[in-house]
Amino acid sequence: MHDSVAPAPESALALNDIQALASADMQAVDALIRRRLASDVLLINQVAEHIIAAGGKRLRPMLLILAARALDYRGQSHHQLAAVVEFIHTATLLHDDVVDESNLRRGRKTANALWGNAPSVLVGDFLYSRSFQLMVELDTMAVMRILADTTNAIAEGEVLQLLHVHNPDTDEASYLRVIERKTAVLFAAATELAAVLAGSSEPVRLALRDYGMQLGYAFQIADDVLDYTSDAATLGKNLGDDLAEGKATLPLIHALEHSPDQVGARLREIIEQGESDAFAEVLTAIRACGGIEYARQAAQGYAARAERALDALPDNAWTAALRGLARHAVARDH
Ligand code: IPE
Ligand code: IPE
Ligand code: MG
Ligand code: MG
Repeated sequence: MHDSVAPAPESALALNDIQALASADMQAVDALIRRRLASDVLLINQVAEHIIAAGGKRLRPMLLILAARALDYRGQSHHQLAAVVEFIHTATLLHDDVVDESNLRRGRKTANALWGNAPSVLVGDFLYSRSFQLMVELDTMAVMRILADTTNAIAEGEVLQLLHVHNPDTDEASYLRVIERKTAVLFAAATELAAVLAGSSEPVRLALRDYGMQLGYAFQIADDVLDYTSDAATLGKNLGDDLAEGKATLPLIHALEHSPDQVGARLREIIEQGESDAFAEVLTAIRACGGIEYARQAAQGYAARAERALDALPDNAWTAALRGLARHAVARDH
């Protein structure tokens, strides 16, 4: 552990270097994911293979691996636990695309667009329960407790979000409550689990949990900005999905609270009706009141808090990689 009176290290690795550092571990994780995906039910293999083979950034398993390495973990369970976290994430994506009626994911048609809602929901359930099988194999109560609490909170977050759909009175506090549960808790679990595996002290475990949580907030706010500012080819998802389903995310919440009365009234109407063809109009209103910049700065604030939490970790290349991922989460374009 580095000397706590020394200034916080500023080093942060670039994405390429982070990927190179994690590459051998991530190949092992990917092999495990592929091996443990299998079912003798053909439709499960088809749907699961479709979304898993499309890739995705594999950010959550990478966080777990990097955190475990930063703590000098020498065991073998980190690959399996990383696969568990990615299975849970993928299950939520299958369910989320049904709820959000999305038809593009990871640059491919969504499973619900190709096979329909029922297979997507059911294969999502398969991935969830497969993740439970994998985690139980590790036979560690602390691991199971964290993951049980996490999956339960994610479900709460998605339901909480449903309650805010088409509600123009959704404020920043309720938005933050939703993103904590639907997104940040899984990041927090990924990094906390590394500390559990490594048998770290309580302060280190809590610091890693805090890092993951702050990073999760930053990541979801950045995702909500990208839903307005990116393009489908880069993002691998359609823009305007949030607006189309009447979901007010941080850029729009800022516009609702800071636009001139007439514009504000029009934005409220658009959310209530879920007018998907009003995307350009809404984006203009958001830009006019600085809503994109406001949300970007909020994301940067959370990323900075994530980096500060890492001061409790040993000062090594793996910790520098975690620092770099905090920066990447808000600077990314997909
Ligand atoms: C998408 O997560 C869901 C959100 C929490 C925004 P990712 O952007 O990590 O999705 P993949 O795994 O890279 O496709
Ligand atoms: C993702 O929220 C949350 C979960 C998957 C639990 P979004 O709805 O913003 O994610 P994308 O944009 O569809 O990936
Ligand atoms: Mg969605
Ligand atoms: Mg989104």
